[in-house]
Amino acid sequence: MVITIGSLNFGQIFSLMQRDTITFDLIKKEEDRQQKGLELIASENFTSHQVMEAMGSALTNKYAEGLPGKRYYGGCEVVDEVENLARDRAKELFGASWVNVQPHSGAQANAAVMLAVLSAGDKMLGFDLSHGGHLTHGSSVNFSGKLYQPSFYGVDKDTGTINWDQVGIIAKKEKPKLIICGASAYSRDWDYKQLREIADEVGALLLSDISHPSGLIARGLLNDPMEYSHIVTTTTHKTLRGPRGGMILMGENFENPWGLTTPKGVIRKMSAILDSGVFPGTQGGPLEHVIAAKAVAFSEALSDEYFHYVLQVQKNGRALARAFMDKDYKVISDGTDNHMMLIDLRSKGLTGKDAESALINADITINKNMVPFDDTSPFVTSGMRIGTAAVTTRGLKENDMAKIASLIDKVLINKTNEQMIIDVKAEVNEWMRSFPLYAETANV
Ligand SMILES: Cc1ncc(COP(=O)(O)O)c(C=O)c1O
Repeated sequence: MVITIGSLNFGQIFSLMQRDTITFDLIKKEEDRQQKGLELIASENFTSHQVMEAMGSALTNKYAEGLPGKRYYGGCEVVDEVENLARDRAKELFGASWVNVQPHSGAQANAAVMLAVLSAGDKMLGFDLSHGGHLTHGSSVNFSGKLYQPSFYGVDKDTGTINWDQVGIIAKKEKPKLIICGASAYSRDWDYKQLREIADEVGALLLSDISHPSGLIARGLLNDPMEYSHIVTTTTHKTLRGPRGGMILMGENFENPWGLTTPKGVIRKMSAILDSGVFPGTQGGPLEHVIAAKAVAFSEALSDEYFHYVLQVQKNGRALARAFMDKDYKVISDGTDNHMMLIDLRSKGLTGKDAESALINADITINKNMVPFDDTSPFVTSGMRIGTAAVTTRGLKENDMAKIASLIDKVLINKTNEQMIIDVKAEVNEWMRSFPLYAETANV
């Protein structure tokens, strides 16, 4: 299409230009993939239309470096209201007294905290990546392991759970400045009270990274880290079901323990130190369109419907872990408190890589994952990680979990039988057709 410029300005011209069908066709293709598949990746979920609408809004045009009321750019009156709304809702949701909603992701939130509270070379203690921890908790390939001096705690070989006394022993030996708890693949709850006692004993700050279970924590289904942690970080796109992003919270604000002062000689609050860890420390302009989407998601998460949702996520997790154990799969720690489970496939003679690729051919998505004391590489792995956040958003209930375990078992037993995989895929696609992602497309 050729557009005659005439009296149109460039904004109008660009809005009339031929649609970028290549990109939008790919987006449609991805929507179809999500619609027809069985999504069991523990870190994924499906946001609502209004969350996506906020993300695709005019707020993406606005630069707003700084914080509401204290920006480096003019014209921030509206985005100030948006960011304050997101902050107020986040505080209400988590019972926090302070929050920064600007981190672009979970990794950015952790980077900002570490920059704020550690100096290069300082010691920190985190949960071992190969036992279920996260890259940003001190892995040697991540900034956290390159800039700081990490040591790690792990799970007990027999129980698959963390022994908190053991964490205390390591902390006393290592004397870290920061203790990090939280995980990417740990299915049990955390003892924040004991971790805080350990942190106090060794003079460390306690950072709880609740990225995975934050939705369940917000609605009181798991132990509450707010009371005991100095600082809490989370992603907003996992169980919280918001846009891809992160945030930093504190139950109580406090004076920084290093005696840092303002130019006027006043002891700086930790909130100010964390704010500057985000901007100008590690980020530039905040993504106000994503912050608007966070505000929408937080309001959804405060609803009764969301409480029933997270309750169902947890029930489904327990039912799915039970269903796998009934089929003689080794679920690490023999169950789950949240919704996530790590399955050791060695007793089935399979690797995580085998399982992931066989299942994807049947439109079932899980991810291969290292299991504690794994003897393979991270590219192969001996396990698979599964979670119920996404399938619960689609409406699946406890009695559907046995079917999921059966379908997965069928694929894994018959992974070289092409026809069998084709049949399972057809069954999955047909099944998922009756659980539309959005009400607008539901056959009601
Ligand atoms: C515990 C934990 N922290 C941080 C992150 C990083 O989040 P993002 O991928 O948004 O950077 C993840 C992501 O999986 C996580 O599981």
